[in-house]
Amino acid sequence: MSRLLVTRRLPDGALDAVAEASGVEIVERPEDKPFTPAELAEAAGSLDGIVCLITDRIDADVLAAGKGRLRVVANVAVGYDNIDVAAATEAGVVVCNTPGLLDDTTADLAFALILAASRRLSEAETDLRAGRWAGWEIDQYLGRDIHDATLGLVGYGGIGRAVGRRARGFGMEVLHHTRTPTGESGWVGDLHELLARADVVSLHVPLTARTRHLIGRPELDVMKSTAVLVNTSRGPVVDEEAVAEALEAGRIFAAGLDVFEAEPAVHPRLLAAPRAVLTPHVGTATVATRLAMARMAVRSALAVLAGEIPDNALNPEAALSS
Ligand code: GLV
Repeated sequence: MSRLLVTRRLPDGALDAVAEASGVEIVERPEDKPFTPAELAEAAGSLDGIVCLITDRIDADVLAAGKGRLRVVANVAVGYDNIDVAAATEAGVVVCNTPGLLDDTTADLAFALILAASRRLSEAETDLRAGRWAGWEIDQYLGRDIHDATLGLVGYGGIGRAVGRRARGFGMEVLHHTRTPTGESGWVGDLHELLARADVVSLHVPLTARTRHLIGRPELDVMKSTAVLVNTSRGPVVDEEAVAEALEAGRIFAAGLDVFEAEPAVHPRLLAAPRAVLTPHVGTATVATRLAMARMAVRSALAVLAGEIPDNALNPEAALSS
């Protein structure tokens, strides 16, 4: 019997595929609370697979503890910076994520933040709820138009492209930056050039050593003082303190942030900064998408346990070394 740990409670129906798989036992804890890395390492040696969330840290210790038995870690997320993929490969563990099916949902949220930050919705609603709105005034809550503005996408994978499609519907000019040329119109090879040209900058890169603090003081300095920064990727892609400083000093117009450097903590200066729309990592948070993500992760884990290598395996070579 293969033992498949599901670290947290998944949406109803997520585990349906297990009933059709033979020889797989689901391991769950009675209480739905996060595993510490030490608890995961302790459990790993007696597991064949793990279905985990981005809040689970699958580090080298966990993977070394699983070496010999553990065959798959399936993340219920497209981003997988919580997993040490090199250590997984070394331990013969295949890592899977959930690409594709969450692109539109995440792009919807990115666009919501683009609109909310550009039109100062959080600030305006907060005032209204606090009884501070004394009536319509000609110069109140003046924002920036999105239509006819220029969008700069940093990263042009599935989510970035989905944001671009929405932006074109709003009449925006869409530029994108990637390190290697895409051969598509709107490609800008120099990040600073894209930042200087964009009215809205939206980030869609994975978190890696290269993208950590990709947007820091020098990058914020080249942005227009009227520009809006949106981040729905991973918190550490931006230097939060630098963003707070830029908002305080009016060096950028507004920011819409769904992800943070040390979640669930949010930098106190960001919380206090003007024109920041802040949401608690809800990019994929719709009923349909969260269920689809969970199902994909579970199916991927079952496939590896059945001796297959799914298309969404990030390190298929790991199967050869196990
Ligand atoms: C969510 O943040 C994901 O990476 O899917």
